[in-house]
Amino acid sequence: MKPKVFIATPIPIEVERYIGEHCQYFKWEGKHPISREDLLKALAENSDIEGLMLKYHKIDRELLDLVPNLKVISNDAVGYDNFDIELMKEKGIIGTNTPSVLDETVADTTFALMLAASRRIVELDRYVKDGHWVKGPEERFYGYDVHGAVLGIIGMGRIGEAVARRGKLGFNMSVVYNNRSQKPDVEARLGVEYRPLDQLLKESDFVVLLTPLTPETKYLMGEREFSLMKETAVFVNVSRGKTVNEKALIKALQEGKIYAAGLDVFEQEPVDPNNPLLKMKNVVTVPHIGSATAKTHHAMAALAAKNLVIACTGGEPPNLVKEFTLPSI
Ligand code: DGY
Repeated sequence: MKPKVFIATPIPIEVERYIGEHCQYFKWEGKHPISREDLLKALAENSDIEGLMLKYHKIDRELLDLVPNLKVISNDAVGYDNFDIELMKEKGIIGTNTPSVLDETVADTTFALMLAASRRIVELDRYVKDGHWVKGPEERFYGYDVHGAVLGIIGMGRIGEAVARRGKLGFNMSVVYNNRSQKPDVEARLGVEYRPLDQLLKESDFVVLLTPLTPETKYLMGEREFSLMKETAVFVNVSRGKTVNEKALIKALQEGKIYAAGLDVFEQEPVDPNNPLLKMKNVVTVPHIGSATAKTHHAMAALAAKNLVIACTGGEPPNLVKEFTLPSI
């Protein structure tokens, strides 16, 4: 009998068909992303599932207790901070993710935010559309150059490399990086240089945060870290909202400790409409769309489906996240 799985995130029809060839599946049919409440309800009604595919939903005991036969959670995302690794291990459930296929798209988003924030593209777009452009260009439209500037990347994984390559080759930037471990191979390949975090913050014109969210990186950027940055620097976060103490970021922007910010992620998502960041002209915001192109989301869904199907049918999924090992047979 085919294993039963639940697909809680929208996926292309071809990917759905592929899952259907190997699994008995049901899926979330709602127009909006499934809420936690609806997810729990769906799982309670289908407690015999062996596989679950989702994006960003928090995995905890309340959820896992509903599905005692679950073998695999396939994240349709590269980040997996939504997993409770210890709890999943306790329950004998493995977790997979979708690395590599989104790297270039997220790097594009990173540069879009860097350019928009430093050259005030969104603010000045509004200025033109609101009919305020009566003369100029004027000095008060000035921003800061991206080309030739110092780019500081925190988290030199695959996406960090894609950002560094753009900075080096496309924008003639000096690229420095900080990472849990130094990466001599990347340094040799891309001509980037390692810096301790404080040094990177002091030196960089653009600080780009790309580190995964872990207990060690939670609130990595706080008041002290922002105070080390240049007053002319732009901060960009494309990792997870909780890597930044948002109150400290707001204060740094309000007090002019940094020049501007580009944010794909927030401590609370969807972001609270009253969040002061949304009122600031020098903050460019997007709704967690780092990987959001049709081509890349298709590739991510296909990879997530492959992980799901292989794990549910007894094989070794290609993207088992590093904290898990398969039980020996
Ligand atoms: C992911 O897949 O984890 C990222 O949030 C993409 O932006």
